[in-house]
Amino acid sequence: MQKKTIRKAVLPVAGLGTRFLPATKALPKEMLTIVDRPIIQYVVDEARKAGIEHIVFVTGRNKHVIEDHFDIAYELEDTLRERGKQEALDLLEAIRPAAGGTSFTRQQEPLGLGHAIWCARDLIGNEPFAILLPDMLMKSDPGCLSQMVEVYEKTGGNVISVEAVPEDQTHNYGIVEIDGDPSAHTVKITGMVEKPKPGTAPSNLFINGRYILQPRIFELLEKQGTGAGGEIQLTDAMLALMGEQTFTGLRFEGETYDCGSKSGFLAANIAYALEDEELAGQIRPVLNDLLKV
Ligand code: G1P
Repeated sequence: MQKKTIRKAVLPVAGLGTRFLPATKALPKEMLTIVDRPIIQYVVDEARKAGIEHIVFVTGRNKHVIEDHFDIAYELEDTLRERGKQEALDLLEAIRPAAGGTSFTRQQEPLGLGHAIWCARDLIGNEPFAILLPDMLMKSDPGCLSQMVEVYEKTGGNVISVEAVPEDQTHNYGIVEIDGDPSAHTVKITGMVEKPKPGTAPSNLFINGRYILQPRIFELLEKQGTGAGGEIQLTDAMLALMGEQTFTGLRFEGETYDCGSKSGFLAANIAYALEDEELAGQIRPVLNDLLKV
């Protein structure tokens, strides 16, 4: 098993975003904004801060705008330069990954998360890598993936981020089975199940969308049949890998917002807005007023 540095990450962005129609009719759901940045920008920033040098986006139709977002915008930047808008230029430069630091590949058919990750196999190659599900926004400093890399440097193997969820919601997620104290900072994972039927979850810890995996997962994904929802599930392939390698769960310190749901998306907007001093001063009175009984 390899304990190489984590240099590459996969961001699966092929989903249709049907829960946000009509907003996502022409706009990828990953480009919806939290305050003033698209969701995907937060996730890319989290990856880069954790030392990721190369990001593989697994895309689908109508996702070109994501590629444009991470490219130089010549016309816009020229105009900003002519107008002396240095601050805006600096901002655009800071968010841009290094030249050659991104790859885009298409998931041609919506066969599930496991299949989406498998589509990145050639671009990742034979090295351990990270996966960040862009629906899940992790608000913390240091970022969730940075915290995971720190754990990985000690444990090696595979590391996934887990978090407690109310029992009536376990059927919406991948749930882990663990050995030991579920409230510990790191836990030994002994099993996992994707979207367990209500009342059958092995714990209340769900997989919240950040993974560090060994490349062996690709060989297992290649053979993986369909699972929950008739899709090829990453969770099922990880369970197979667990027969050969260790899996450590990290309960990261920070907040998770499930931006795949409207309530999570709105909560993230409020949380990030309240973090900005100027904006917080403006919206706090509005929120207080709206919440008055
Ligand atoms: C996926 C994973 C699941 C995980 C979840 C987190 O499910 O399959 O294990 O808990 O992301 O958001 P999906 O949201 O694609 O149904």
